[in-house]
Amino acid sequence: MDMSADSGQQPKYYTPDPSYRVHSWMGDYSWTYNEFVKDPDKFWDHIAQKLHWFSPYDKVSEWNYPYAKWFVNGKTNITYNCLDRHVLGDRRNKVALIWKGEYPEEERVFTYRQLYREVQRFANGLKKLGVVKGDRVCIYMPVIPEQVIAMLACTRIGAIHSVVFGGYGAAALNQRIVGAGAKIVITADMAIRRGKAIPLKHIIEEAVINAPTVEKIIILRREQRTPVELHSEMEIDFYEAMADVSSDCPAEVMDAEDPLFILYTSGTTGAPKGIVHTCGGYMVGVYYTTKYIFDIKEHDVYWCTADPGWITGHSYVVYGPLSVGATVLIAENTPDYPDPGTWWKIVEEYGVNILYTAPTAIRMFMKLGEEWPNKYNLSSLRVLGSVGEPLNPEAFEWFYHVIGKDKCPIVDTWWQTETGMHMVTTVLGEPMRPGFVGKSVPGIVADVVDKDGNSVEPGKSGFLVIKKPWPSMMRTIWNNDERYRKYWETIPGCYQVGDLAIRGEDGYIMVIGRSDDLIIVSGHNIGTAEVESALVSHKAVAEAAVIGKPDPLKGNTIKAFVTLRVGHTPSEKLKNELIYHVRITLGPIAMPSEIEFVDSLPKTRSGKIVRRVLKAKEMGMDPGDISTLDE
Ligand code: WT7
Repeated sequence: MDMSADSGQQPKYYTPDPSYRVHSWMGDYSWTYNEFVKDPDKFWDHIAQKLHWFSPYDKVSEWNYPYAKWFVNGKTNITYNCLDRHVLGDRRNKVALIWKGEYPEEERVFTYRQLYREVQRFANGLKKLGVVKGDRVCIYMPVIPEQVIAMLACTRIGAIHSVVFGGYGAAALNQRIVGAGAKIVITADMAIRRGKAIPLKHIIEEAVINAPTVEKIIILRREQRTPVELHSEMEIDFYEAMADVSSDCPAEVMDAEDPLFILYTSGTTGAPKGIVHTCGGYMVGVYYTTKYIFDIKEHDVYWCTADPGWITGHSYVVYGPLSVGATVLIAENTPDYPDPGTWWKIVEEYGVNILYTAPTAIRMFMKLGEEWPNKYNLSSLRVLGSVGEPLNPEAFEWFYHVIGKDKCPIVDTWWQTETGMHMVTTVLGEPMRPGFVGKSVPGIVADVVDKDGNSVEPGKSGFLVIKKPWPSMMRTIWNNDERYRKYWETIPGCYQVGDLAIRGEDGYIMVIGRSDDLIIVSGHNIGTAEVESALVSHKAVAEAAVIGKPDPLKGNTIKAFVTLRVGHTPSEKLKNELIYHVRITLGPIAMPSEIEFVDSLPKTRSGKIVRRVLKAKEMGMDPGDISTLDE
């Protein structure tokens, strides 16, 4: 692929006001990057020293390809840095968390002291139920303060949380509970969406069957008038679990390399992967990037619209912002309910200074029109952020002009569940180039290479890779270290991220999209394999292949090609049934928007479905080399 922007017309940049650079924590990008290059361990040590360690590390890093250790033998606890440090310091009565519900005036506010107390009480509640360091706890909750409290309570006592996004269905949840071997599942009776209660308890009930490691289900009952009945052997009320316990629960002393959490992400083949992050390196990585990339200042109100159940929420709702002592806003909310002004109303009302969101939301607002944001005073905004998929130039421009009023820099941050923290972006004060994420964050060495690991020429596409270990890199995949090694072993000496990219003459990187079988729908990573196996689990389906189709709003939508078993005939009714089936098993985010019945699927001689041929056909493009295909 050639890049028109670099092979002809002049690239277009937007340069923020110089004050952004002058007053930022990062300062001058090139200077900071060079400091890192001169002595990487010294660079990371300098950052890690700003955090609290119960006992110091002997060594900053140890690289035993493809295994890294960071802050070797250091002892810490991320919650000490997110809570104790602030309560013991001068942020005791500073607001830590603001939760905005869907109904007008529905809000809950926690100071650092209050959050500290709730976390310790719930941590003691978990202890009382027999949870000890190293146990896995699954959290399946809507966006409410208790979701954050549950996460912090786990890490307080060294239990490894595995948060599952509340939009997943029973089968996906079951797979993740079983995969992690969770002892406890924490959930709520319902989520609120578009003014309606969405019951969750029956999903948990189904998901826990055939998950024999589960000992107890903790249920937050939001419906107080007619609370759901609890089955006393297995189920316990969230607040009952923390009744009669002390509000003092000292942080467990964790080794820097102890696992902190598992987070499942869709795989390209087979089951989802349980990405494992550790206590020390992850903490340093998210602290650093939250402070320096978003440039959070003491009195800022920071809003990341992601659900804490995704990595964006783990790193940039919970652990990063709380470790820097920020005021964090979370909202249980749908962007266009009750009307498309709801987000902008929140920005005005709470005086949001930093807004971190996703291209899919920006494109939706673009479609709904400028009149909605224009109704509100957005002048508090200082920094805008984007993550999850490529921010196309049209969406960049709209975000920059309509929301940022031509003054707020946009940090388009490229990273992944596996990387834990921002990796490539344009730091504050540097010229921004629409369509391009930017350059490596200081501390990171990203490159665009060919399959042998050689850098490709500017303007040519290649694989995006990382050439040096970093503190918040995943350490393994839960129960599947072999799959972890593949990330480092596919391209010599590089961590392969699975994205295609182009680097311009100016060194700026443009991320094109996935090079594998992942489809990004509205910013959610969906594995083709997951959707296909959900379809095949339906009695009428023989085989299925799914592809992503570019969509102006969602980035991609899912189209499924399906062959039927004998005795079943194609019909609109069956299409509907299959879509419904995927919705129930995997959840609404993985639902195909289109199904086509076919007689056969294109396959290699070894029997692998060749999705690229289906995709090319769908897009009216040349399918490329089909010589390896079966007749
Ligand atoms: C994949 C990782 C990291 C939080 C969200 C998703 C895509 C992510 C960008 C960006 C272009 C992006 C990549 C990446 N992606 N950010 N700024 N520009 N693409 O985390 O579910 O682990 O997905 O999201 O394809 O590999 P994830």
